[in-house]
Amino acid sequence: MRKQIAAANWKMNCTYQQGEKLLDDILSARIPLKPGQLTIFAVPFPYLIMGSSEVADETNYFVAAQNCYHKKSGAYTGEVSAEMLHSMGIPYCIIGHSERREYFGETNKILAEKINLCLEFEITPIFCCGEPLPVRETGNQNTYVQEQLKESLFHLSDGDIQRLVIAYEPIWAIGTGKTASSDQAQEMHAHIRKVLSGHCGALVANNISILYGGSVKAANAGELFSCADVDGGLVGGASLNVEEFITIIKSLK
Ligand code: PGA
Repeated sequence: MRKQIAAANWKMNCTYQQGEKLLDDILSARIPLKPGQLTIFAVPFPYLIMGSSEVADETNYFVAAQNCYHKKSGAYTGEVSAEMLHSMGIPYCIIGHSERREYFGETNKILAEKINLCLEFEITPIFCCGEPLPVRETGNQNTYVQEQLKESLFHLSDGDIQRLVIAYEPIWAIGTGKTASSDQAQEMHAHIRKVLSGHCGALVANNISILYGGSVKAANAGELFSCADVDGGLVGGASLNVEEFITIIKSLK
């Protein structure tokens, strides 16, 4: 059975104190999660220890890093490696968020290196893919996303592919308030699963959680998550609001 995941992506938001309160408020709501349902908080690097200790006694709550560097170690001032995250017990890391691709020039090839390092250090990558608006407008989104998957993931063995979480985040829907319709999300998620299954077989592909991201909020999470191939969401803005995010977690199927 695929895991159903509500993943919060705080991005570069919240002071330490605000972040601590946000986690406290969400955890103290004691949302009854079913087996196979997870909540993940992708917090800024300096908050990883605090986040880890907040979720330490919980079974279905985890923290994630929002990024790691594509080299193993060395003279890369200011960067954080997968090995460092592993040594702190961090179980998940977002890889290839569109903001990293756009503002920091991360290419599919660099992302393949990051994926390798995460897997080497037993961190589950949450691999982001998704097309910009002009690609959607010309109807080429399927080919575009297929290339992203192919160039960053298709060197992996079936066993390693199965360790990934994928997040489909159409760039035109991120932080814009414009969500993909549930039909658009389902169509792309089914496409992603088909592409993965072409590479590693249906059995493996059916076990991979594929999250939707892009203006997920309390009001649309239920409809999006009810789609057959949508296994939860990667949530930016709405994950910073306690009530919104609690409703989103409760919308997992
Ligand atoms: P958003 O961000 O929910 O604010 O659109 C999603 C994301 O970038 O992961």
